[in-house]
Amino acid sequence: MSTFDFDRVVDRRGTSCLKYDFGLQRAGREDLLPMWVADMDFALPENILARIRERIDHGIFGYTDPDDRYYKAAEGWFERRYGWRIDRKWISVVPGVVYGIAAAIRALSDRGDTIIIQEPVYYPFREMIEENGRVCVSSQLVEKDGRYEMDLADFERKIREHNVKVFILCSPHNPVGRVWSREELKAVGGICLENNVRMIVDEIHCDFIFPGHTFTPFASLGEVYAKNSVFCTSPSKTFNMAGLQIANIMIPDDQMRRAFRKINSANGYSQANAAGLAAARAVFEEGDEWLDALRDYLAGNLDYMRSFLKEKIPGLRMIEPEGTYLVWVDFSGVTGSYEDLLHLVRDEAHLWLDEGAIFGKQTRLFERFNIACPRSVLKEALERLEKAVQGRMEGK
Ligand SMILES: Cc1ncc(COP(=O)(O)O)c(C=O)c1O
Repeated sequence: MSTFDFDRVVDRRGTSCLKYDFGLQRAGREDLLPMWVADMDFALPENILARIRERIDHGIFGYTDPDDRYYKAAEGWFERRYGWRIDRKWISVVPGVVYGIAAAIRALSDRGDTIIIQEPVYYPFREMIEENGRVCVSSQLVEKDGRYEMDLADFERKIREHNVKVFILCSPHNPVGRVWSREELKAVGGICLENNVRMIVDEIHCDFIFPGHTFTPFASLGEVYAKNSVFCTSPSKTFNMAGLQIANIMIPDDQMRRAFRKINSANGYSQANAAGLAAARAVFEEGDEWLDALRDYLAGNLDYMRSFLKEKIPGLRMIEPEGTYLVWVDFSGVTGSYEDLLHLVRDEAHLWLDEGAIFGKQTRLFERFNIACPRSVLKEALERLEKAVQGRMEGK
C-alpha cells in the first residue's frame, strides 16, 4: 500500500493552469476533459511542500543562484538513480527544457543550417528549429508490430544529403513511448560522431520508465558520446513543477558549454527562480519515495487503459509505452479522416487529447493520451470515448 494518495482528485480550476483553465479558455469549451499537455494532476507530497514553504516563509526572494547544496543534490539524484556521475560544472540552470533546446540550437548551428529530428516527436523541436531560422529535416520513426524503431539507414542518408549539423534526440521518446536501448543509442550516436553532427539529447522523461525497461543515460555510453552532446533534464516533468521554471542543461564539452552560455547570456538570462531552486533541491534530496510510488500508480493506470481498450474499444490500437506517461493510440480502426477524428474526440467524446497531427504529418489518425491523473479521471475519459465509439457503431 502506498502512503501517497494518487487517487485524490485535486480541483485545479482557478489556478491559472494551462491544462484546465487556459486550455478550456483556448478551446472555448467547458465540456472537454483535458488529457492533453504533459502535466500531471497529482499534488506534491508533504515533505516536499514543507521544504518549499520553508523557503517561502523566509519572505525575501531576491536574485538567487544555485549553491553548493543545490549542485550536491542534483549530483546525488543522477548518481543514485542512474549511476550517472555528472560534474556540477556541466550544469546551466535555465527556465525550461524548451528554452534550453532553443539556446542549444543557436549555440551549435548557424542560421540556414539543417537540424534533424525523428517524427512523430514532441512538436516544439520542429518549432524551435524553424523559429530560429534553421531548416528541419525528419527521419521518420518506423512502426513494426506496435513498436517504433529508428530507421538508421534513412537517418544517415538524410544527414549526408542535407549536410545536417545537429540532431535532437528524444530519450525516452515522446509521443511513441520508446525507452531506447543502449545498442540503439550507440548506433544513432555513432552515426552522429562519424558525420560531425552534434547532439541535443532531451532526457526530460527519463524518470518515467515502466516495469521491465531501463533508462540508459546517453552520456553513459562513454566520454566521446557525452562530449558531443547537450543534455536537457529537468525535475519539472518528474515532479510536475514546470510552473517553477527550473531545468538543468548539462554540457560536458568546454567549448560547447561556453557557446551555450554565451547565447544564454545574450538572451538576458542570469539568475534562477528562487522558489524553483528550493523545490528542485528538495525533490532531488527527498523525492525518491514519492516518485517510486507514482511510477507504480502510473503502471496501474496503464494496465487499466490497456484492458479497457482491449475489452471495450477494440477498434483502437494502443502502442505499448515503455516510458513516459503518455499513451499513443491509433484511431484508424474507427475513422479514416483527420476532421472526423477531431469531431469524434472533441464533439462526441468531449475529450481534449493531443492530436497525432501536431507530432508529424504521417500520424494524423493518432491521438496522445496523458494518463498522469487519478484513476477515476482516466476511467471517466475512457468511458466517454467508449460511448462515443459505440454511438457510431450503433448509428451504422
Ligand atoms: C520531450 C519534452 N521536452 C521538453 C518538454 C517541456 O519542457 P519544459 O517545460 O521544461 O520546457 C516536454 C513537455 O512535455 C517534453 O515532452
